[in-house]
Amino acid sequence: MSSAARRAPQEEALVQGEYHFTEADFKAVAAMLHADAGIHLPPAKATLVYSRLAKRVRTLRLASFADYVALVAGENGKDERINMLAALTTNVTRYFREPHHFDLLRTQVLQPLADAAKAGARVRLWSAGCSTGQEPYSMAMTVLSVIPEAARLDVKILATDIDPNVVETGRRGIYNEEAVSPVPKEMRDRYLKRDRDAGQWVVTPELRSLITFNELNLIGDWPIKGKFDAIFCRNVVIYFEEPTQERIWGRFRTHMQPHARLYVGHSERVGDPRFETDGLTTYRLKGGAL
Ligand SMILES: C[S@@+](CC[C@H](N)C(=O)[O-])C[C@H]1O[C@@H](n2cnc3c(N)ncnc32)[C@H](O)[C@@H]1O
Repeated sequence: MSSAARRAPQEEALVQGEYHFTEADFKAVAAMLHADAGIHLPPAKATLVYSRLAKRVRTLRLASFADYVALVAGENGKDERINMLAALTTNVTRYFREPHHFDLLRTQVLQPLADAAKAGARVRLWSAGCSTGQEPYSMAMTVLSVIPEAARLDVKILATDIDPNVVETGRRGIYNEEAVSPVPKEMRDRYLKRDRDAGQWVVTPELRSLITFNELNLIGDWPIKGKFDAIFCRNVVIYFEEPTQERIWGRFRTHMQPHARLYVGHSERVGDPRFETDGLTTYRLKGGAL
């Protein structure tokens, strides 16, 4: 029998394009993303997966999608697997997104803690799934609006994300004109410095000093000691299946002070009965101090 006759018939393409992309390729990518990040990719995302990863196949000058899948699944593909994760995660964010949460952070958490903080008490906030940093910097501006001397006190914000690229962008704290447009003018004047030549805005050292940026996978180990007064985890678990979400709520619970608040995205819900809602996607521990 000739080699052509022995070759398996080519599997049907799932998405038409420059590279042959099959259901098996999609399933392999989806399984890796699920194992690495907890993200569930339904079949309806096949076109999105193709368009985002075809760029990687091209950049790496690979002959086929099957070669790409083999690379990221193998020992030599560890770095590219991080690029794959970065390409497939949604990093959309903006300054003061869902602005009512920052008003609530002020009234529910920061104002009641302000006097104790000024007397040296520890205050800890967490932006879990911080993307490129706009969320934790918005939290930091809110902190300084209530506790102006916060940078000299024991007040800190932890900002974490699974994607090392966005963590690095947050750490740098440099944003373009469009990105800073939602920042209220008085806060922009105070906490962002304009570099006219570069057309960019840079966060001030004071604002920056409140935040520690770190990589952290919410479905992995959390090298975190101590409890938080507020956790923002918004528009992150929406990509996870319900059991994964429930596990994360339970783990947040053990990292919350009795008076703490958990803020989630507008389309997310905390189903764990040990939490109760204040309305407006804000949660506190049942039986916790009000
Ligand atoms: C849509 S952004 C939300 C950013 C911000 N919280 C907001 O609401 O504007 C979702 C972020 O979650 C991160 N993410 C996805 N899976 C994650 C995981 N397993 N652990 C930590 N972060 C994750 C992504 O990298 C992305 O930056």
